[in-house]
Amino acid sequence: MYVDYAATTPVDPRVVKAMQPFFGDLYGNASSMNSFGVDAKRSLEESRKALAHFMGAEQDEVIFTGSATESNNLVLKGHAFKLGIANCHIAVSMIDHDCVLNSARWLDQQGYKVSYLPVDQHGFLILESLEKVLEEKATLVSVVHGNNEIGTIQDAEKIAKMCHNYGALFHTDAVQSFGKLPLNVKESDFDFMTVNAHKLYGPKGIGALYIRKNLNLDPLIHGGGHEFGIRSGTENIPGIVGFAKAVKLREKEMKPEGERLTRLRDRLIKGTLEIYNTYLNGHPTKRLCNNVNIRFSYVEGEAIVLALDTDGIEASSGSACSSASGEPSHVLLAIGLKPEEARGSLRFSLGKYSTAEDIDYILEVLPKAIKRLRAMSPLKGNKRNSWEFNVSN
Ligand SMILES: Cc1ncc(COP(=O)(O)O)c(C=O)c1O
Repeated sequence: MYVDYAATTPVDPRVVKAMQPFFGDLYGNASSMNSFGVDAKRSLEESRKALAHFMGAEQDEVIFTGSATESNNLVLKGHAFKLGIANCHIAVSMIDHDCVLNSARWLDQQGYKVSYLPVDQHGFLILESLEKVLEEKATLVSVVHGNNEIGTIQDAEKIAKMCHNYGALFHTDAVQSFGKLPLNVKESDFDFMTVNAHKLYGPKGIGALYIRKNLNLDPLIHGGGHEFGIRSGTENIPGIVGFAKAVKLREKEMKPEGERLTRLRDRLIKGTLEIYNTYLNGHPTKRLCNNVNIRFSYVEGEAIVLALDTDGIEASSGSACSSASGEPSHVLLAIGLKPEEARGSLRFSLGKYSTAEDIDYILEVLPKAIKRLRAMSPLKGNKRNSWEFNVSN
């Protein structure tokens, strides 16, 4: 049973079908003048239109990239290179994805001014800190929309408004909320927005970036001037067509699926919190419809992941991208957890194939796994079996 949809999703068979011809006869290069190229170009632009429509943008405000990682790098570094060291001041939230944070840290090392914005215990940006960096003339603020680990959904519209009041630009990494929540870049007044396909039942290796008209970024990849000169390289037409198909499917399916997943999520949260000494990470309601992130005392999240795996449940202890580092999650530390508390956390992320029976099965298996792991845990100290009596959640 797969409950790691925040890491990636299975490609929808209808998306595979839409992509297939582009691995066969429709192999033209969208920059070629011949009719194969013209057909490829048409598919490229129709796909761009579909994406733009879904996010409320204009067609020429969307560029395709190779991943959300690339889009995030492009916003931060492209902005920095455009303004230069003397004029640039970037602020990023401390719970942003590693691809934002590590781009910011790299710029920091190169001598650019970078500020790191703290969050409260639920993961909401502390607006007084934002105000302070805006007073210090921040030029670009980047805040993740729906957090990939704890699911917290920021009040991005309010943050964008504050940024604009001070003349700063606002970027949001909406990878996890795109296709789960209605997002409209114009109504929300975003300047840049990062999205990708593989979190919404599309293929891997394709991302996009919304860039508000008349805003400039320096390109990171130079070449033949593809994608309005911002991202050179022959376009990945099968991936782009697959992304557009996935987005069109979301248009119809997002709302009913979101309501269904919210019910499953809340049942899973409620059932899991019945285990002694467990706590919810993130906000109880202002969270992604598919995200459940729970902290268990006296046990390591990775041990739980492995224990569940033997029972056929594929969960995660946090962000797939940084799990190799072995460090406690920077998101959980940023919301104020101690390293040992951060290490005891587990993420379930639900998706379109998740069912009520899956939740029943998790709630049957998980308490037993936790009990077993706690019984042999060196983390429990001398409070032997204390969790068996403590019912405070
Ligand atoms: C919030 C967020 N941003 C960026 C990324 C990176 O996406 P990609 O795999 O397309 O590089 C992810 C993927 O885990 C994510 O969850």
